[in-house]
Amino acid sequence: MKKTKSPHRDVIHDRIPATDSRFSELIKVIEGLHDYNVLTYTVNRDQELYDLIVKKATDVMNTHIGSLMLFDDKTMKLKIVAARGLPKKVIDITYLKPGEGIAGKVFQNRKAIFCEDIESDDRFKRKSRVKYYSKSFVAVPLKVKGRVVGVLNVNNRKSHEPFTAEGMKILTLIADEAAMTIENRRLLRRIEKAYMDTVATLAKVLDERMPSTMGHSLRVADIACALAKRMGLPEDRLQLIKRAALIHDIGKIGIPDSVLLKPRALNAVERKIIQNHPRIGSEFVDKVEFFNIFVPIIAFHHEWFNGAGYPMGLKGAQIPIGARIVAVCDAWDAMISKRAYRDTLTPHEALEEISRCSGTQFDPEVVKEFLKMTRSRVRKTQPSLRRLA
Ligand SMILES: [Fe+2]
Repeated sequence: MKKTKSPHRDVIHDRIPATDSRFSELIKVIEGLHDYNVLTYTVNRDQELYDLIVKKATDVMNTHIGSLMLFDDKTMKLKIVAARGLPKKVIDITYLKPGEGIAGKVFQNRKAIFCEDIESDDRFKRKSRVKYYSKSFVAVPLKVKGRVVGVLNVNNRKSHEPFTAEGMKILTLIADEAAMTIENRRLLRRIEKAYMDTVATLAKVLDERMPSTMGHSLRVADIACALAKRMGLPEDRLQLIKRAALIHDIGKIGIPDSVLLKPRALNAVERKIIQNHPRIGSEFVDKVEFFNIFVPIIAFHHEWFNGAGYPMGLKGAQIPIGARIVAVCDAWDAMISKRAYRDTLTPHEALEEISRCSGTQFDPEVVKEFLKMTRSRVRKTQPSLRRLA
């Protein structure tokens, strides 16, 4: 019997056809866009994001020059916030009003401009005083919900080939995504500001309830942030520590006046009541979106390094580093501040006390850095205490 050839055999054994160059170019573009999209969501600083957008646009469009311009609501002008291949002088002095220059026109008309040869294009020839650094270019608007927030420009392809309609579409995709990311960050900043205002209000409410400790939270927040910075914690952690420190005692709002405002030392029962404040505070913030990231610091700022603290009796590294930092700064400010029921300690006495409690109440690493930082601060403000060095 004659063997018939399986219809699938040819498919299986055939070599995968060589990818044509346009297809491989497209794959490269998609891969590039994907990689950059992932990066876009991981950068922390605005400038990093702007640089990344320009890098993405120039890489994907294969151009020597690219720039991102954003509209400044205060000056009412477009300003270059990131660029590649442009002289610094040009970046520094370029401010365009809507309608001025190519980017200004793109901004005003909300439409992309595509030009193959600026010298022969009647739209730009000797019509503007703006000096063009390119022969061919594409400039597309950054649009968010129909509003233009900036312009993305790329100029001079490395291959010296003209831009294509596909190229314009790809740049439009990049610009749309860039606009969305920039806008999301602006919105996030607005929300962050609103919630920081709320944190500050909560701290103020607490201060007003306990006039004897007025400003304590603010001072602890400042010192804790400076100390965390010295200890090499990343920027986002510094902000978290600062904000959490501002409301570390927020649970005291739930403590009765008879205990909280008692002008004398507390008895054992009253001490137990006030020791509830980390739990009350952490339960309160845990219920609020945006605030629940502060729980570890609020809940554990009275834990001791040796496990003898409250409320959980955590020890060593079980206590979050932010809480270990706030614990030292909290104790320092409480010791050097006036209290109705005890004398104020001098900075020297307070430093001695913190040093004495290193390894028991406080993390020795935190204490070591705190002593270095505070001794130099104290020496600057109180030269008579030079002997502390
Ligand atoms: Fe506290």
